[in-house]
Amino acid sequence: MTTASEAAEDRVTFSTASPFPILGIETSCDETAAAVVIDGTRVASSVVSSQVDLHARFGGVVPEVASRAHLDLLGPVVAETLVEAGLTGPDVGAVAATVGPGLVGALLVGVSAAKAYALAWGVPFVGVNHLEAHLYAAFLEEPDLEPPLVLLLVSGGHTLLVAMEGHLRYRLLGGTIDDAAGEAFDKVARLLGLPYPGGPAIDRLAMNGDPEAVRFPRAMRDEGYDFSFSGIKTSVLTYLRKHPDVAAADVAASFQEAVVDVLVTKARRAAREVGATGICLAGGVAANSVLRERVLDACIADGLRPFVPNRTMCTDNAAMVAATGWWRLRHDGPTPLSAGADPGLHFPGL
Ligand code: KG4
Ligand code: ZN
Repeated sequence: MTTASEAAEDRVTFSTASPFPILGIETSCDETAAAVVIDGTRVASSVVSSQVDLHARFGGVVPEVASRAHLDLLGPVVAETLVEAGLTGPDVGAVAATVGPGLVGALLVGVSAAKAYALAWGVPFVGVNHLEAHLYAAFLEEPDLEPPLVLLLVSGGHTLLVAMEGHLRYRLLGGTIDDAAGEAFDKVARLLGLPYPGGPAIDRLAMNGDPEAVRFPRAMRDEGYDFSFSGIKTSVLTYLRKHPDVAAADVAASFQEAVVDVLVTKARRAAREVGATGICLAGGVAANSVLRERVLDACIADGLRPFVPNRTMCTDNAAMVAATGWWRLRHDGPTPLSAGADPGLHFPGL
């Protein structure tokens, strides 16, 4: 039987003789990150410089502030990651950078720098899709992960349920018709007076709350694979207006419970219908404690393998970009230097 990774090997168009270190660069939003990953799986170094404090006082990411901070931080972050990996620039086999989706100004900083490094060192440049990179974060820890898998990608900008049929081969099952899951966390956090970013703040507060305190709606839970999270945000607002003295922890826990219930119910049903061997969790919201716990429980109950990357790999980082760069370089070859950033890039092939 040909395994999915062997099928992907069949289509190799660019040979990467081992050990093949790739420098990854990530600047799509508010993390300036660089990492060196060897052969697509071994993280030699990973440096993430978060701009969270810079944006916190504005209650969200300010694109212009993010671009300027990336400009200041990227050089030192790349230098640090190379030193930690024990490499000099020309030792790397390729430079991979996130080309989208994300904030256009922020993306351009990483893409331009990656092309300049690639030119200076005489190595290929590889443009990486940020959403696919979130998925490949799971392969860094579980290199033997074998499709078919169901991928639940939940971030600040996206909520996708995807059937991964082989390496770099996907089929879209569903997505959000309005807000992304992370966006719902961030908006509800603001209603509760919690600081930016809202997801981790709700996660922490919910630990002291009762998830059964309020029954918030589970939109479209038992129909299809699309999601809708704008209604729950309105329900929380209405509830807070009617019950101004409610314990914020109870609202946080009940809101989180409803979102996780919908996400896990759909991922589980998708895994059954697709005949998947496992469920792979990816994106910033995959750092959520209750979501992680429920996916693990569901996989145990259904005889599936759970692929839940550690928390630092769930949120934006460059190791996932370098790992994806390795797969893409082998499959598609180098990306032309004329290719630009694409802020609205979709999940590959969907
Ligand atoms: O993937 P990511 O780092 O950036 C994007 O590509 O969007 O995801 C950021 C999102 C934010 O909405 C943030 O609130 C959410 O992930 N997030 C969480 C948690 N940690 C981050 N949401 C719920 N619980 C968490 N622990
Ligand atoms: Zn992300």
